[in-house]
Amino acid sequence: MFSKLTQLPADPILGLSVKFKADLNPNKIDLGAGIYKDENGDTPVLSCVKIAERFRLENEKSKAYLGSAGSALFNEKITALMLGDHQVIRENRIRTVSTPGGTGALRTAGEFIKTCTPGATIWVSNPTWANHQGVFTAAGLNVKTYPYYDYENKCLDFEGMAAALKQVSKDDAVLLHACCHNPSGMDLNKEQWQQVADIANQVGFIPVVDMAYQGFGEDLDADAFGLRLMADTVDQMIICGSCSKNFGLYRERIGACSIIGKNAISADIISSVLLSVVRVNYSMPPAHGAAIVETILDSAELTTQWHGELKEMRDRINGMRQLLVDQLVANGVTRDFSFITKQNGMFSFLGIDQTQVQRLQGEFGIYIVGSSRISLAGISPDNVDYLTQSIAKVL
Ligand code: LMR
Repeated sequence: MFSKLTQLPADPILGLSVKFKADLNPNKIDLGAGIYKDENGDTPVLSCVKIAERFRLENEKSKAYLGSAGSALFNEKITALMLGDHQVIRENRIRTVSTPGGTGALRTAGEFIKTCTPGATIWVSNPTWANHQGVFTAAGLNVKTYPYYDYENKCLDFEGMAAALKQVSKDDAVLLHACCHNPSGMDLNKEQWQQVADIANQVGFIPVVDMAYQGFGEDLDADAFGLRLMADTVDQMIICGSCSKNFGLYRERIGACSIIGKNAISADIISSVLLSVVRVNYSMPPAHGAAIVETILDSAELTTQWHGELKEMRDRINGMRQLLVDQLVANGVTRDFSFITKQNGMFSFLGIDQTQVQRLQGEFGIYIVGSSRISLAGISPDNVDYLTQSIAKVL
């Protein structure tokens, strides 16, 4: 049976990390995977996480199964973090399960949609996170794209997006990035969110909001503006959250899939289907990451500490956006890269071609995704000169 297999290419994002580790160039720079790095290029465990882990180590009483929904306290806390004090919580219309990371949330959402409507289509932005297509296809959905980023003018093609969403079927789902669009860094503004929410309401498609970077744009509440507005406007939607980036819990795999129904009775039915989707997939989520997050969010002191650490990460990345643009100018680059300072989160497109991307990697040890997506978190005051000189050379 196995002899029928053919070799597949490495993952376009995770494969880069493997190549980067093997590169012996002392000046190498990793701008590939979306992972926070400090000025020394390290991804340290947050101090609030260390404290929460110590607390769990001393106080955990059992490793018995938690059930397919995972920890009830985590589910309550993460729902409130994503939605704030929202009517869908007060009306008891939302059900949340903990998932193995944000990817687990997306896969669970995909399987849930397929259970509702076999053969359903999910529309994703063009471009979108490289794994969205694979996750939803693996869940049995058809994946189509709507216009989103205007590569030429380095801005949003909102007209194209709105026109496409008006043509979507009411039985389809539409994936939206809550904030810090991956890979373009271009987000909808408040008026555009209102328009998209109105279209969703009129057409009747199911919005699936992927919030993998809450806290990396403006702040925790501002980054959830669109998601909360959508939940105000439509009566059914899906939210996929992740604690990988904002709690720095990447390898612990903790995220959440929340589904909003029309009323409490339909939310209970949704919950039963959601739990059966999880049961036949991975049975139940890992507990450690959830335990850390709920410990932090259940303590006012640890929550304040976490807010401070999250702000530090966000401010450092934003500082690198400006530094990159300034240094490109200082190194004689005449092409306008100022759009990078207007974008949000970890990513932007450099807007260079495949050959230039390959030259950056082969000649200079600078690793960026083939689409020319860079993770700003890999830039530091120490490497920005080498980086911008190298970009200047390949341009
Ligand atoms: C990314 O987009 O780089 C991250 O979300 C990491 C991943 O799993 O692809």
